[in-house]
Amino acid sequence: MKFKTVFEPFRIKVIEPLIMTSEPERSEYLEAAHYNPFLLHSDQVLIDLLTDSGTSAMSTRQWSAMIVGDESYAGASSWFRLENEIRDLTGYPHILPAHQGRAAERILYGHLGSPGKVFISNSHFDTTRANIEYTGAIAIDAGVMAGTGAAEFTFDGNMDIKALQDYIRQYGKRNVAAVILTVTNNTGGGQPVSLANAIAVREVCTKTRVPFFLDACRIAENSYFIRQHEPGMNQFSYREIARKMFDLADGCIMSAKKDGLVNMGGFLAVRDESLASACMGILIITEGFTTYGGLSGRDMEAIARGLQEVFDSSYLEYRICSIAYLGNKLHAMGIPVLQPAGGHAVYIDARKMYPSIPVDEYPGQALVCELYLAGGIRCVEVGSVMFGKYDRHGQLIPAPRELVRLAIPRRVYTQSHIDYVVEVFGELYKRKSEVTGYHIEREPKFLRHFTARFGKNNSRNGT
Ligand code: F0G
Repeated sequence: MKFKTVFEPFRIKVIEPLIMTSEPERSEYLEAAHYNPFLLHSDQVLIDLLTDSGTSAMSTRQWSAMIVGDESYAGASSWFRLENEIRDLTGYPHILPAHQGRAAERILYGHLGSPGKVFISNSHFDTTRANIEYTGAIAIDAGVMAGTGAAEFTFDGNMDIKALQDYIRQYGKRNVAAVILTVTNNTGGGQPVSLANAIAVREVCTKTRVPFFLDACRIAENSYFIRQHEPGMNQFSYREIARKMFDLADGCIMSAKKDGLVNMGGFLAVRDESLASACMGILIITEGFTTYGGLSGRDMEAIARGLQEVFDSSYLEYRICSIAYLGNKLHAMGIPVLQPAGGHAVYIDARKMYPSIPVDEYPGQALVCELYLAGGIRCVEVGSVMFGKYDRHGQLIPAPRELVRLAIPRRVYTQSHIDYVVEVFGELYKRKSEVTGYHIEREPKFLRHFTARFGKNNSRNGT
């Protein structure tokens, strides 16, 4: 390419106005939401970086495909279109539709999990962990440490192969229900997993006869990093690289709300026929018949197109470069971001941002609230609010890190929105010494970050 500017490879045809708010208004909204941005109304939010899931803008091709959606209960042509597309992409023979990723997780891990069983992953996403723990099984993270900031590119989303082998030995291979490789590694900073690492996982799983599944919801973004950074890979297309990864595993789960470029949908795909038929039984009871699984025909049409569009090279280049743009700008300002930026999000180390806020006062939650107050930006804590547990005495066992995630919806915001986010961080940087922590006032048993209510601490010693 002759010019260096990476621009959005689309133009805007339909617009959705943003509703402006002032800082005093946002202060009221945040208090009413108990300092939990999940409880804000979306019209109180200016730039919504809460998630990249289900928030994509669809293309004209996807919208036009929706009109031909076949809404038959059984055997809809839209289903066959989707099934063919997924089979062509993954190579797996048995495809089960589901209304989103966690429904597919519940079906597969609900079938494989039970008390005494163990699942090992480079890192479990929160719903993955919750679905596994709900069966009485244990979910163990064995990822390498992400965001080490090494000069050369290091695929920080990788599985730690030695740790994987040690855990399999420790728990006994018969007790390991599955190994799950999440690409990219969302909880581990959105970092990619190399093909070499997936090959090493395959070897361990073959030796120990443990099933190996991919959580493939961001596999196109992961393929971008492999093509750019793994030796010998730039002779392959992004789709061919994804296929190499699918070829290594026994099946996958995919939330289509990410790299499917749709607002709702997901699927489960496996090689093994008896596993597929056991899962189909649960699918029919809980999601719907095998040719729609909780999706309408139009949803299936949109996913089938989205799975093609996401591998477009100009789209993927723009996508990853635009995330790196935000990460690099924040880094240059002295904001402690995980480097390099992930495929779908920029992660900030809130402990480094607010070193005087102790972990049991949730520095990540403090940053999330500050971003909303100062700029109307909504994002999520990925630290001890999301993953913290309590010991027998009710003391917090903190998460390994206190991160905050700025997840970028696909094809939604332009560079000037991102420049605004950067400017808001400039303001936060100035007032960072005044920020205090939070305490939890009310929380549910599972997935507490969605509905927990917080109170603001007035001083830095938690009062
Ligand atoms: N696996 C990963 C790696 C995810 O990131 C998600 C969702 C799921 C599974 C579950 O999929 O939402 O369709 O049920 N992640 C979203 C996020 C919610 O914000 O990162 P789902």
